[in-house]
Amino acid sequence: MRAAVVTAFGGPEAVEIVETDVPEPGARQIRIKVAAAALNPVDAGVRAGVFGGAGRRLGLGWDVAGTVDALGAEAGWTVGDQVVAMAYGALKSLGTHADYVVVDADAVAVAPASLDAAHAATVPLNALTAAQALDLLALEAGQSLLVTGAAGAVGGYAVQLAARRGISVTALAREADDALVRSFGAGRSVAGGVEPRSVDAVLDAAVLGATALEWVRDGGSYVGVIPHTEPASVRGVRTTAVEVTADGARLAELVALVDEGVLTARVAETYALTDAAKAHERLAEGGVRGRLVLVP
Ligand SMILES: NC(=O)c1ccc[n+]([C@@H]2O[C@H](COP(=O)([O-])OP(=O)(O)OC[C@H]3O[C@@H](n4cnc5c(N)ncnc54)[C@H](OP(=O)(O)O)[C@@H]3O)[C@@H](O)[C@H]2O)c1
Repeated sequence: MRAAVVTAFGGPEAVEIVETDVPEPGARQIRIKVAAAALNPVDAGVRAGVFGGAGRRLGLGWDVAGTVDALGAEAGWTVGDQVVAMAYGALKSLGTHADYVVVDADAVAVAPASLDAAHAATVPLNALTAAQALDLLALEAGQSLLVTGAAGAVGGYAVQLAARRGISVTALAREADDALVRSFGAGRSVAGGVEPRSVDAVLDAAVLGATALEWVRDGGSYVGVIPHTEPASVRGVRTTAVEVTADGARLAELVALVDEGVLTARVAETYALTDAAKAHERLAEGGVRGRLVLVP
């Protein structure tokens, strides 16, 4: 099968398409025939060497939508099931940017009935991250939350999930994204250097760090998206960062919200798997709204 990997860190040109053996699922694992696999910022990080692993072959891709194709013992799925999953890990030898991928059975959920594979593939990593980041904040209805990077994949889902829980959401986004983030349920949107009002918590998907921390009230909460880089606590503000974990049961809940129209899956463009390097190039240019998705 074909797989997108890096063997030497670098820019988009470092992405290689290699021929490799189709992986076999072990116990409590399944193999998915990939129908679509989103490209995320983490893949660019892996490619550039942010997570280490020099000298190894690193498989790219965390998000997948496809069809269960083979089962390990006690896997609990059926060949032919249409599924989505997150293949966790920056240092794995094969990822979802491939013809087939093996994932843990408990990282898998039935695919959204309302979406095609390309859109479905944009859900797992970023919806899980948004949900798990909100868990860390533990806000109640009526409390206020600022989401930075609200037009992005994590930020957009975070706005939608928080608004649904009755949290009063302010979105920080580029000026051109004002209507978009309001459509996600943000009651207020700030852009172009306007200072947000003091909030109970911030979910800092734009990685603004100490600047975003300043907008949290004394004793509030800050959650970042790059583990171990969150700013130090000031004024009694609790600071932490989300590190997404695979969770098929939670993913199933998020898929249900997709099918209910609560969460919006967005595809910017699709690329053939063999054009993975071009997709990385496009991501590096910036300004993408919705995900770039690779289709084998
Ligand atoms: N810890 C984890 O487990 C985890 C999981 C998933 C993602 N992440 C991280 O979360 C971050 C967001 O991911 P994503 O996929 O949501 O990225 P994304 O789709 O690129 O979204 C980021 C958004 O933030 C906007 N932005 C950046 N700086 C801004 C600023 N100063 N003012 C207003 N908007 C600004 C970007 O706009 P422009 O495009 O115009 O710059 C973009 O809309 C990434 O760093 C990613 O690596 C972490």
